[in-house]
Amino acid sequence: MKVLVTGGTGYIGSHTTVELLANGHEVIIVDNLDNSSKIVLDRIEKITGKRPDFIEGDVLDTDFIVRVLKDNRVDAVIHFAALKAVGESVADPLRYYQTNVGGTVSVCKAMLATGVNKIIFSSSATVYGDQPIPYTESTPREPQNPYGRTKFVSELVLADVAAANPDFCAVALRYFNPVGAHPSGEIGEDPNGIPNNLMPYISQVAAGQREKLSVYGNDYPTKDGTAIRDYIHVADLAEGHLAALQKIYDPGFHTFNLGAGHGESVLEVIVAFEQATGQTIPYQFADRRAGDLAEYYADAALAESQLGWRVKRTITDASADAWHWQSGNPNGYKNVV
Ligand code: NAD
Ligand code: WQD
Repeated sequence: MKVLVTGGTGYIGSHTTVELLANGHEVIIVDNLDNSSKIVLDRIEKITGKRPDFIEGDVLDTDFIVRVLKDNRVDAVIHFAALKAVGESVADPLRYYQTNVGGTVSVCKAMLATGVNKIIFSSSATVYGDQPIPYTESTPREPQNPYGRTKFVSELVLADVAAANPDFCAVALRYFNPVGAHPSGEIGEDPNGIPNNLMPYISQVAAGQREKLSVYGNDYPTKDGTAIRDYIHVADLAEGHLAALQKIYDPGFHTFNLGAGHGESVLEVIVAFEQATGQTIPYQFADRRAGDLAEYYADAALAESQLGWRVKRTITDASADAWHWQSGNPNGYKNVV
């Protein structure tokens, strides 16, 4: 298949592009490089021996996306391009609605205009909010912040477009907590500034770039008092996209949780990272982070039964791969010549 990957130079998009190329698909990446680097293209080529086509541009520019779909005879779209920082979405919700919801609307308009009928969309477990665990796909959606609401509204847009267009097939993949990097160490997560997320923060502590980790909250009602999440290796996530691309053809709107189906506490992640890498992670307990939930993880049974997909990698694998990436690329893609 010929696949348009929006946001394909980003963290999850680059790993999915590797998986697509390795499985014989052709990839055209559209990215405005707002949160990524063109160096990723060299790295993808190094891993796969194939260079994806790349066109710099904005998904909000519908005419541009129409041209890309037409000129390249695209069969399906995987739509990663979005903004993803929860705190930033609270401070600047309009930017998030514009890019995330507006981007989804724009991509769908371009697809309808060109007869491209299949889209796989990056959704998030954050659409569920504070609900009983494990989350199934039918758990009520009550996202707790603007970022989560942009994902929820984007799903509604896709469901409505699918309802109005009998050939349209939309698959929303609700990712839990993506972590790790490609085992080659060539591509990985490259946050700007101080990482918001746990695994990149731990990696930077291990590399000596940050003094110690603050563990946000040790008084949660969990086994060790720290919060529990369902961490999923980004390579497993990439395989989930391939499965959705190859297995789901029925028109309509489909949703799948992509998670491991169990959780690890922050302290368990630290121990796994230390064991996988031989590094010591100094940490201190700090106050809970506003908006954090105590515990959530996926019921991933639907993805297993319908996509034939389940995670293969552990948090220890993800830690080893994150460290391989971090230690080989201490500045991420920055200052690479
Ligand atoms: P990322 O920031 O690394 O990748 C997103 C890419 O989209 C970047 O390369 C960025 O430059 C590009 N982009 C942003 N706005 C654009 C626009 N208007 N036009 C074209 N390109 C644009 O993020 P990621 O972690 O790879 O996330 C990919 C997707 O998965 C996002 O939709 C995100 O919301 C979703 N998601 C991420 C996580 C996570 O924890 N990383 C969890 C759940 C869902
Ligand atoms: C994990 C755990 C923190 C950093 C976020 C988004 C969510 C989704 C995935 C996109 C929590 C703790 C973290 C640190 C810590 N993204 N932590 N010290 O918050 O579960 O999910 O990314 O869709 O929408 O909210 O992930 O990696 O930030 O945190 O103790 O320095 O690690 O409190 O319990 P989170 P995270």
